[in-house]
Amino acid sequence: ACGDDEGDGGSGGGDDKLTIGFAQVGAESGWRTANTKSIQESAAEAGVELKFSDAQGKQENQIKAIRSFITQRVDVIAFSPVVESGWDTVLKEAKDAEIPVILTDRAIDSPDETLYESFIGSDFVLEGQKAGEWLVEEYKDETDPVNIVELQGTPGAAPANDRKAGFAEVIKADPKFKVIASQTGQFTRTDGKQVMETFLKSHDDIDVLYAHNDDMGLGAIEAIEAAGKVPGKDIKIITVDAVKDGMTALSEGKINFIVECSPLLGPQLMDLAKTVADGGTVEKRVLTEETTFTPEQAKDVLPDRKY
Ligand code: AHR
Repeated sequence: ACGDDEGDGGSGGGDDKLTIGFAQVGAESGWRTANTKSIQESAAEAGVELKFSDAQGKQENQIKAIRSFITQRVDVIAFSPVVESGWDTVLKEAKDAEIPVILTDRAIDSPDETLYESFIGSDFVLEGQKAGEWLVEEYKDETDPVNIVELQGTPGAAPANDRKAGFAEVIKADPKFKVIASQTGQFTRTDGKQVMETFLKSHDDIDVLYAHNDDMGLGAIEAIEAAGKVPGKDIKIITVDAVKDGMTALSEGKINFIVECSPLLGPQLMDLAKTVADGGTVEKRVLTEETTFTPEQAKDVLPDRKY
């Protein structure tokens, strides 16, 4: 599979089929499940052979998967880095083997931009800023302190770092906004629920929850209800992603605002992979288009929401 690929996927099958090795983060959230489905379905549609590996949230597993893709001499390696740092060595190995790498969804923290061809995904800082801007507008007439608790994503992951930073940057303009507790909920429902329980035990004055994804917000809703409070009213909730379960809770008023993060990266990834495998040039940064949703907007789009 190392020669010239046909690249158009039109003739189906054959020895020169493009092979992509994809190292996924895991299956921590509804977003991730939708992302995996998008990549697998787009590969099938494009006539691409996909070697798929699930790292179960561990960087060491992703590194092993990338090394195995190098040994198997796939045409293109794509992966969504669990954390931002620590990739230089293995990506140098891919570069030495002349196998192009595409980053999907999450960036790496490396000064060497030659280690990958392209990075396709969202602007997570902007997502955090949008969450903060909604909050500023929502509380514009409030003079009392606004107590915020934050459920962060996986420690060291780009979306956790950036969503925290973007949000903090916007709310710091007004000292009435106070983040009284901030902890990781690992992007999962279970941890979101558990950490929210501990927040509720130590603080009886929480006004707002900012969760870095829908799943943690949904877990937290269970904890809030169990504590006899009304999510969306007693505690306002902002999340990121806009997967179906999150959008349903938003339409019911249990979540107040969702910043969209699109998991549907498969079709663009296939196009990029074909171009780089054919020796073409691609944009170094391919930005995903995203919006935000209020409860009313969620009601409108829910019937057609695919994930
Ligand atoms: O990298 C994207 C993030 O990872 C999603 O927002 C979160 O749900 C997922 O686990």
